[in-house]
Amino acid sequence: MDIFELDSAFVLHTYARRKIAFERGENATLFDQNGDDYIDFASGIGVNSVGHGNGRLAAAIADQASKIIHSSNLYTIAIQARLAERVVRLSGLDARVFFANSGAEANEGAIKLARKYGQNSGRFEIITLRNSFHGRTIATLKATGQEKFHARFGPFPDGFVYAADTEDVLRKIGGRTAAAMVELVQGEGGVLPLDEEAVRNLAAELKKRDILLIADEVQTGVFRSGEFTASIGYSIEPDIFTLAKGLGGGVPIGAVVTTKKELFEYGDHASTFGGNFLSARAAYTVLEILEEIKNSGKLARTIGYFARKNGEISAKYPRLFLGEAGVGLMRALIAKDDLIQQAVLERAHKERVLVLRSGGSRVRMLPPLTISKEEIDLGFQRLDSACRAADF
Ligand SMILES: Cc1ncc(COP(=O)(O)O)c(C=O)c1O
Repeated sequence: MDIFELDSAFVLHTYARRKIAFERGENATLFDQNGDDYIDFASGIGVNSVGHGNGRLAAAIADQASKIIHSSNLYTIAIQARLAERVVRLSGLDARVFFANSGAEANEGAIKLARKYGQNSGRFEIITLRNSFHGRTIATLKATGQEKFHARFGPFPDGFVYAADTEDVLRKIGGRTAAAMVELVQGEGGVLPLDEEAVRNLAAELKKRDILLIADEVQTGVFRSGEFTASIGYSIEPDIFTLAKGLGGGVPIGAVVTTKKELFEYGDHASTFGGNFLSARAAYTVLEILEEIKNSGKLARTIGYFARKNGEISAKYPRLFLGEAGVGLMRALIAKDDLIQQAVLERAHKERVLVLRSGGSRVRMLPPLTISKEEIDLGFQRLDSACRAADF
């Protein structure tokens, strides 16, 4: 059996997989089983924040692996404490962190925090937005405001209420509302930034009514938006925010960060793996690298250049696209319909530039935050050829 037959025979068929098997990478360039190079505008769905084959990250992981990988959270993990301090400092909040292993798991932790917060006053409902995406566990699926995810897997836990937009969240507040959970830029839903003034108004209203604001920063966090969190860009201070994806640069780690520092008590929550030596060391190193490129101004320059190139492609193919959208290095081409989106996605893969599908007929791009100018140029050259081929 070749590797594709082996995969098909033994791995459950939950993904629409392409027959491309990457073997190695250098920053935003990946090489497949035939040695062909691909420009990576997807970074493993927003994960490879410091690129592929990053020497500093690899050295830190190798060093850590040779000493100790895991001890359990029954013992103090020095690098986890240092990572938590760094996350809190970067967030600008007076907060504490719980480490998990994925975005969904981080959001589960946030949901539990909100449930505990509301417990004494009989409040347990969490309002989420239509078109949102919060994960694939039973509770986070139900939190996801898209009906298509709710078929087949019920019954679900009670307590999730959906709002059409930020203004509607205020209308949906009732006596049982404990929290509202939002993605400030909806990722899977279509790279849709929420309106800044509406978000600030929502944050102020929730505070007044003692309802928690949870920012799901699983996709927007860790400098993806240009700031450490999108919350910073929106000038809001959520009570809870969650991270995952880019935090470990590919090593699985998630985080729940909350200003309600005493809410979780001994025994309330736990994880066997969460924030172990390996993932915490990886995340700590990722944050060191990303803080440097943020503070040097390089990240802002990369964002500006990438957005400009994306705007040029959008303008060059008016029969395909309505425009470009996004925040930071979370960007999209707004295709006119799903057929065009599909055609661009297929052609892009043929031209060897990796882009992602997302809601609203959008072609999504989440390149590594370390992507070079040359890689951006080559990626957009290839995307241009893909669009030319799709523009028939
Ligand atoms: C905003 C958001 N929340 C949660 C998740 C779930 O993260 P994970 O796949 O790590 O469980 C995702 C994943 O796409 C996401 O984009």
